[in-house]
Amino acid sequence: MLKARISTLEAEGKNALKTVKTIADLEAWEIKYLGRKSELGNILKSLKNFSSEEKKVIGSLANGARQTLAQAFAETKARLLEQSVDWEKERIDVSAPGVAVACGHLHLITQLEHQIEDIFVSMGFTVADGPEVESEWYNFDALNVSPDHPARDMQDTFWLQRDEPQKENFLLRTHTSSVQARYMETHTPPFRIIIPGKIFRNEATDASHEHTFHQFECLMVGDDVSVANFKYIAQAFFENFFEKKVLIRLRPSFFPFTEPSFEFDISCVLCDGNGCPVCKQSGWLEIGGAGMVNQKVFEAAGYPRGKYQGFAWGFGVTRLAMMKYKISDIRLFMGGDLRFIRQF
Ligand code: DAH
Repeated sequence: MLKARISTLEAEGKNALKTVKTIADLEAWEIKYLGRKSELGNILKSLKNFSSEEKKVIGSLANGARQTLAQAFAETKARLLEQSVDWEKERIDVSAPGVAVACGHLHLITQLEHQIEDIFVSMGFTVADGPEVESEWYNFDALNVSPDHPARDMQDTFWLQRDEPQKENFLLRTHTSSVQARYMETHTPPFRIIIPGKIFRNEATDASHEHTFHQFECLMVGDDVSVANFKYIAQAFFENFFEKKVLIRLRPSFFPFTEPSFEFDISCVLCDGNGCPVCKQSGWLEIGGAGMVNQKVFEAAGYPRGKYQGFAWGFGVTRLAMMKYKISDIRLFMGGDLRFIRQF
Protein backbone atom coordinates (compact mmCIF):
# COMPACT_ATOMS: atom_id res chain seq x y z
CA MET A 1 0.00 0.00 0.00
CA LEU A 2 2.62 2.47 1.11
CA LYS A 3 4.79 1.60 -1.85
CA ALA A 4 1.95 2.39 -4.22
CA ARG A 5 1.24 5.63 -2.39
CA ILE A 6 4.86 6.71 -2.80
CA SER A 7 4.72 6.10 -6.54
CA THR A 8 1.45 8.00 -6.78
CA LEU A 9 2.88 10.93 -4.85
CA GLU A 10 5.87 11.05 -7.17
CA ALA A 11 3.71 11.00 -10.29
CA GLU A 12 1.26 13.50 -8.82
CA GLY A 13 4.04 15.89 -7.83
CA LYS A 14 5.61 15.72 -11.28
CA ASN A 15 2.27 16.40 -12.91
CA ALA A 16 1.43 19.28 -10.60
CA LEU A 17 4.77 20.87 -11.39
CA LYS A 18 3.79 21.13 -15.05
CA THR A 19 1.03 23.60 -14.20
CA VAL A 20 3.26 25.81 -12.04
CA LYS A 21 3.73 29.18 -13.75
CA THR A 22 5.10 31.53 -11.09
CA ILE A 23 7.73 31.47 -8.38
CA ALA A 24 4.95 31.89 -5.79
CA ASP A 25 3.16 28.79 -7.12
CA LEU A 26 6.46 26.97 -7.07
CA GLU A 27 7.01 27.80 -3.42
CA ALA A 28 3.56 26.42 -2.56
CA TRP A 29 4.38 23.29 -4.55
CA GLU A 30 7.64 22.87 -2.66
CA ILE A 31 5.88 23.01 0.71
CA LYS A 32 3.31 20.50 -0.46
CA TYR A 33 5.65 17.92 -1.96
CA LEU A 34 9.04 18.44 -0.42
CA GLY A 35 8.36 20.29 2.82
CA ARG A 36 9.04 18.76 6.21
CA LYS A 37 5.31 18.38 6.82
CA SER A 38 4.55 17.07 3.35
CA GLU A 39 3.14 13.56 2.95
CA LEU A 40 6.44 12.29 1.64
CA GLY A 41 8.24 14.00 4.53
CA ASN A 42 5.96 12.24 6.98
CA ILE A 43 6.60 8.87 5.35
CA LEU A 44 10.35 9.42 5.66
CA LYS A 45 9.96 10.42 9.30
CA SER A 46 7.92 7.29 10.05
CA LEU A 47 10.58 4.93 8.67
CA LYS A 48 11.95 4.32 12.16
CA ASN A 49 8.77 2.42 13.05
CA PHE A 50 9.32 -0.23 10.40
CA SER A 51 11.28 -3.45 10.56
CA SER A 52 14.72 -3.21 9.08
CA GLU A 53 13.63 -5.26 6.05
CA GLU A 54 10.76 -2.88 5.25
CA LYS A 55 12.85 0.13 6.11
CA LYS A 56 15.27 -0.75 3.34
CA VAL A 57 12.63 -1.16 0.64
CA ILE A 58 10.33 1.69 1.59
CA GLY A 59 13.23 3.95 2.54
CA SER A 60 14.95 3.63 -0.82
CA LEU A 61 11.64 4.11 -2.66
CA ALA A 62 10.72 7.21 -0.67
CA ASN A 63 14.21 8.75 -0.95
CA GLY A 64 14.22 7.99 -4.69
CA ALA A 65 10.88 9.77 -5.09
CA ARG A 66 12.15 12.69 -3.03
CA GLN A 67 15.25 13.01 -5.19
CA THR A 68 13.28 12.87 -8.41
CA LEU A 69 10.90 15.56 -7.18
CA ALA A 70 13.77 17.74 -5.85
CA GLN A 71 15.50 17.51 -9.20
CA ALA A 72 12.32 18.42 -11.10
CA PHE A 73 11.81 21.31 -8.66
CA ALA A 74 15.35 22.67 -9.29
CA GLU A 75 14.87 22.51 -13.05
CA THR A 76 11.52 24.27 -12.91
CA LYS A 77 12.92 26.96 -10.63
CA ALA A 78 15.82 27.64 -12.99
CA ARG A 79 13.42 27.85 -15.94
CA LEU A 80 11.05 30.24 -14.13
CA LEU A 81 13.91 32.50 -13.01
CA GLU A 82 15.25 32.72 -16.51
CA GLN A 83 11.81 33.52 -17.89
CA SER A 84 11.40 36.33 -15.36
CA VAL A 85 14.41 38.26 -16.73
CA ASP A 86 13.63 41.00 -19.23
CA TRP A 87 16.46 40.26 -21.64
CA GLU A 88 15.76 43.28 -23.76
CA LYS A 89 16.33 45.47 -20.73
CA GLU A 90 19.44 43.58 -19.68
CA ARG A 91 21.02 43.75 -23.10
CA ILE A 92 24.43 45.49 -23.12
CA ASP A 93 25.63 47.02 -26.34
CA VAL A 94 29.35 46.41 -25.99
CA SER A 95 30.04 48.51 -29.07
CA ALA A 96 28.33 51.66 -27.68
CA PRO A 97 30.74 54.47 -26.71
CA GLY A 98 31.41 54.57 -22.97
CA VAL A 99 30.63 57.40 -20.57
CA ALA A 100 33.87 59.18 -19.63
CA VAL A 101 34.57 59.27 -15.90
CA ALA A 102 35.10 62.88 -14.80
CA CYS A 103 38.51 63.04 -13.22
CA GLY A 104 40.15 65.99 -11.46
CA HIS A 105 43.70 67.14 -12.18
CA LEU A 106 46.31 69.55 -10.93
CA HIS A 107 45.76 73.24 -11.60
CA LEU A 108 47.79 74.64 -14.49
CA ILE A 109 49.90 76.72 -12.08
CA THR A 110 50.74 73.65 -10.00
CA GLN A 111 51.69 71.74 -13.15
CA LEU A 112 54.01 74.56 -14.18
CA GLU A 113 55.49 74.79 -10.68
CA HIS A 114 56.34 71.11 -10.88
CA GLN A 115 57.89 71.61 -14.31
CA ILE A 116 59.94 74.56 -13.01
CA GLU A 117 61.05 72.54 -9.98
CA ASP A 118 62.17 69.66 -12.22
CA ILE A 119 64.31 71.97 -14.36
CA PHE A 120 66.01 73.54 -11.34
CA VAL A 121 66.50 70.28 -9.51
CA SER A 122 68.31 69.01 -12.62
CA MET A 123 70.68 72.00 -12.20
CA GLY A 124 71.45 71.14 -8.59
CA PHE A 125 68.89 73.40 -6.90
CA THR A 126 66.79 72.56 -3.84
CA VAL A 127 63.13 73.56 -3.51
CA ALA A 128 62.40 75.61 -0.36
CA ASP A 129 59.14 76.75 1.16
CA GLY A 130 57.81 79.37 3.57
CA PRO A 131 54.55 80.62 5.10
CA GLU A 132 51.96 82.71 3.25
CA VAL A 133 51.07 84.55 6.46
CA GLU A 134 54.32 86.33 7.15
CA SER A 135 55.76 88.78 9.66
CA GLU A 136 56.67 92.31 8.67
CA TRP A 137 60.26 91.42 9.49
CA TYR A 138 60.69 88.66 6.90
CA ASN A 139 58.58 90.33 4.23
CA PHE A 140 60.17 93.78 4.53
CA ASP A 141 62.76 94.57 7.24
CA ALA A 142 65.11 91.65 6.65
CA LEU A 143 65.06 92.55 2.96
CA ASN A 144 66.18 96.11 3.60
CA VAL A 145 62.81 97.59 2.65
CA SER A 146 62.75 100.86 4.59
CA PRO A 147 59.87 101.58 6.99
CA ASP A 148 58.60 104.38 4.76
CA HIS A 149 58.78 102.38 1.52
CA PRO A 150 55.48 102.77 -0.39
CA ALA A 151 55.17 98.98 -0.79
CA ARG A 152 54.29 98.71 2.92
CA ASP A 153 51.40 101.03 2.27
CA MET A 154 47.81 99.84 2.65
CA GLN A 155 47.61 100.08 -1.13
CA ASP A 156 49.88 97.13 -1.76
CA THR A 157 49.89 94.96 1.33
CA PHE A 158 47.17 92.98 3.03
CA TRP A 159 47.91 93.62 6.70
CA LEU A 160 46.39 91.24 9.21
CA GLN A 161 44.59 92.60 12.25
CA ARG A 162 44.65 90.86 15.58
CA ASP A 163 42.52 91.65 18.61
CA GLU A 164 45.22 91.16 21.22
CA PRO A 165 48.24 93.49 21.24
CA GLN A 166 51.19 92.04 19.34
CA LYS A 167 54.91 92.64 19.19
CA GLU A 168 55.05 92.11 15.45
CA ASN A 169 52.83 93.02 12.53
CA PHE A 170 51.63 90.24 10.27
CA LEU A 171 50.60 90.30 6.62
CA LEU A 172 49.96 88.14 3.58
CA ARG A 173 53.37 87.92 1.95
CA THR A 174 53.70 90.27 -1.00
CA HIS A 175 56.52 88.28 -2.59
CA THR A 176 58.38 85.00 -2.25
CA SER A 177 61.51 87.02 -1.32
CA SER A 178 60.26 86.70 2.28
CA VAL A 179 61.59 83.14 2.34
CA GLN A 180 65.16 84.32 1.53
CA ALA A 181 65.97 85.47 5.08
CA ARG A 182 64.15 82.51 6.65
CA TYR A 183 66.24 80.08 4.62
CA MET A 184 69.53 81.90 5.20
CA GLU A 185 69.00 81.94 8.97
CA THR A 186 69.14 78.16 9.03
CA HIS A 187 71.58 77.40 6.19
CA THR A 188 75.20 78.25 5.48
CA PRO A 189 76.40 78.97 1.91
CA PRO A 190 77.08 77.64 -0.62
CA PHE A 191 73.50 76.80 -1.61
CA ARG A 192 71.13 77.23 -4.50
CA ILE A 193 67.38 77.23 -3.98
CA ILE A 194 64.12 78.11 -5.67
CA ILE A 195 60.98 79.05 -3.77
CA PRO A 196 57.73 78.73 -5.71
CA GLY A 197 54.68 80.13 -3.99
CA LYS A 198 51.49 82.12 -3.78
CA ILE A 199 51.68 85.84 -3.08
CA PHE A 200 49.15 88.59 -2.38
CA ARG A 201 48.81 92.24 -3.36
CA ASN A 202 46.20 94.66 -2.17
CA GLU A 203 45.35 96.24 -5.50
CA ALA A 204 42.48 96.79 -7.91
CA THR A 205 42.15 93.89 -10.33
CA ASP A 206 41.98 94.01 -14.10
CA ALA A 207 43.14 91.82 -16.99
CA SER A 208 46.76 92.14 -15.92
CA HIS A 209 46.44 92.69 -12.14
CA GLU A 210 45.27 90.17 -9.59
CA HIS A 211 45.31 90.18 -5.79
CA THR A 212 46.61 86.60 -5.63
CA PHE A 213 49.15 85.11 -7.99
CA HIS A 214 52.26 82.94 -8.12
CA GLN A 215 55.96 83.71 -8.21
CA PHE A 216 59.12 81.77 -7.88
CA GLU A 217 62.15 83.11 -6.15
CA CYS A 218 65.66 81.97 -6.96
CA LEU A 219 68.59 82.40 -4.60
CA MET A 220 72.14 81.22 -5.20
CA VAL A 221 74.83 82.15 -2.67
CA GLY A 222 78.48 81.21 -2.41
CA ASP A 223 81.96 82.68 -2.22
CA ASP A 224 82.08 84.00 -5.77
CA VAL A 225 78.63 83.72 -7.36
CA SER A 226 78.41 86.40 -10.06
CA VAL A 227 76.05 88.01 -12.57
CA ALA A 228 77.53 85.62 -15.15
CA ASN A 229 76.21 82.65 -13.15
CA PHE A 230 72.86 84.36 -12.93
CA LYS A 231 72.63 84.98 -16.69
CA TYR A 232 73.68 81.43 -17.51
CA ILE A 233 71.19 79.78 -15.14
CA ALA A 234 68.33 82.06 -16.12
CA GLN A 235 68.94 81.43 -19.82
CA ALA A 236 69.26 77.66 -19.32
CA PHE A 237 65.99 77.69 -17.41
CA PHE A 238 64.01 79.66 -19.99
CA GLU A 239 65.28 77.64 -22.94
CA ASN A 240 64.30 74.48 -21.13
CA PHE A 241 60.91 75.87 -20.07
CA PHE A 242 59.88 77.25 -23.47
CA GLU A 243 61.75 74.56 -25.43
CA LYS A 244 63.33 77.08 -27.77
CA LYS A 245 66.26 79.47 -28.05
CA VAL A 246 65.66 82.46 -25.78
CA LEU A 247 67.68 85.69 -25.52
CA ILE A 248 67.84 87.49 -22.19
CA ARG A 249 68.29 91.17 -21.43
CA LEU A 250 69.04 92.95 -18.16
CA ARG A 251 67.98 96.54 -17.59
CA PRO A 252 69.21 98.55 -14.59
CA SER A 253 66.60 98.89 -11.88
CA PHE A 254 66.21 99.28 -8.13
CA PHE A 255 65.18 96.86 -5.39
CA PRO A 256 66.11 97.42 -1.74
CA PHE A 257 67.28 93.80 -1.43
CA THR A 258 69.70 93.77 -4.37
CA GLU A 259 72.66 95.83 -5.48
CA PRO A 260 73.00 96.12 -8.41
CA SER A 261 69.39 95.40 -9.41
CA PHE A 262 67.95 94.48 -12.79
CA GLU A 263 64.70 94.19 -14.63
CA PHE A 264 64.85 90.90 -16.47
CA ASP A 265 63.47 90.44 -20.01
CA ILE A 266 63.47 87.53 -22.44
CA SER A 267 63.05 87.67 -26.20
CA CYS A 268 59.36 87.27 -27.04
CA VAL A 269 58.63 83.55 -27.25
CA LEU A 270 55.62 84.11 -29.48
CA CYS A 271 57.24 86.13 -32.28
CA ASP A 272 60.90 85.22 -31.54
CA GLY A 273 61.71 88.87 -30.99
CA ASN A 274 60.25 90.16 -34.24
CA GLY A 275 57.44 92.14 -32.64
CA CYS A 276 53.80 91.12 -32.01
CA PRO A 277 50.82 92.35 -29.95
CA VAL A 278 51.87 90.29 -26.90
CA CYS A 279 55.27 91.98 -26.65
CA LYS A 280 53.72 95.27 -27.81
CA GLN A 281 55.97 95.16 -30.89
CA SER A 282 59.08 95.46 -28.70
CA GLY A 283 60.31 91.90 -29.22
CA TRP A 284 60.87 91.55 -25.44
CA LEU A 285 58.82 90.23 -22.52
CA GLU A 286 59.26 91.48 -18.96
CA ILE A 287 59.68 88.56 -16.59
CA GLY A 288 60.53 90.07 -13.20
CA GLY A 289 63.17 91.58 -10.95
CA ALA A 290 66.62 90.31 -10.09
CA GLY A 291 69.99 91.36 -8.79
CA MET A 292 73.02 90.64 -6.65
CA VAL A 293 71.94 90.13 -3.03
CA ASN A 294 72.46 93.31 -1.01
CA GLN A 295 75.01 92.76 1.79
CA LYS A 296 72.47 94.26 4.20
CA VAL A 297 70.21 91.26 3.50
CA PHE A 298 73.09 88.89 4.32
CA GLU A 299 73.72 90.82 7.52
CA ALA A 300 70.05 90.64 8.54
CA ALA A 301 70.25 86.86 8.10
CA GLY A 302 73.31 86.72 10.35
CA TYR A 303 76.09 86.36 7.75
CA PRO A 304 79.25 88.50 8.12
CA ARG A 305 79.25 91.47 5.75
CA GLY A 306 81.29 90.86 2.59
CA LYS A 307 81.83 87.13 3.17
CA TYR A 308 79.42 85.87 0.51
CA GLN A 309 78.08 86.85 -2.90
CA GLY A 310 74.84 85.74 -4.47
CA PHE A 311 72.09 86.49 -6.92
CA ALA A 312 68.35 86.46 -6.46
CA TRP A 313 65.31 86.88 -8.60
CA GLY A 314 61.55 86.88 -8.27
CA PHE A 315 59.79 85.84 -11.48
CA GLY A 316 56.07 85.44 -12.05
CA VAL A 317 54.87 81.87 -12.59
CA THR A 318 51.45 83.25 -13.48
CA ARG A 319 53.07 85.54 -16.02
CA LEU A 320 54.99 82.64 -17.56
CA ALA A 321 51.77 80.65 -17.79
CA MET A 322 50.09 83.55 -19.58
CA MET A 323 52.95 83.68 -22.08
CA LYS A 324 53.20 79.95 -22.60
CA TYR A 325 49.44 79.48 -23.20
CA LYS A 326 48.59 82.95 -24.61
CA ILE A 327 46.15 83.72 -21.78
CA SER A 328 45.15 87.36 -21.88
CA ASP A 329 43.34 87.76 -18.53
CA ILE A 330 45.19 86.99 -15.28
CA ARG A 331 41.91 86.74 -13.33
CA LEU A 332 41.09 83.44 -15.04
CA PHE A 333 43.68 81.56 -12.96
CA MET A 334 42.13 81.99 -9.53
CA GLY A 335 38.60 82.73 -10.75
CA GLY A 336 37.37 79.19 -10.18
CA ASP A 337 35.75 78.82 -13.60
CA LEU A 338 36.08 75.11 -14.36
CA ARG A 339 35.70 75.67 -18.11
CA PHE A 340 39.06 77.44 -17.95
CA ILE A 341 40.71 75.02 -15.53
CA ARG A 342 39.71 71.91 -17.51
CA GLN A 343 41.55 73.04 -20.61
CA PHE A 344 44.92 72.20 -19.14
N1 DAH B 1 60.32 90.63 -4.83
C1 DAH B 1 60.23 91.37 -6.07
C2 DAH B 1 58.78 91.57 -6.46
O1 DAH B 1 57.96 90.80 -6.06
C3 DAH B 1 60.94 90.66 -7.18
C4 DAH B 1 62.39 90.51 -6.96
C5 DAH B 1 63.26 91.47 -7.44
C6 DAH B 1 62.89 89.42 -6.31
C7 DAH B 1 64.61 91.35 -7.27
C8 DAH B 1 64.27 89.28 -6.14
C9 DAH B 1 65.11 90.25 -6.64
O2 DAH B 1 64.82 88.24 -5.51
O3 DAH B 1 66.44 90.10 -6.49
O4 DAH B 1 58.48 92.47 -7.18
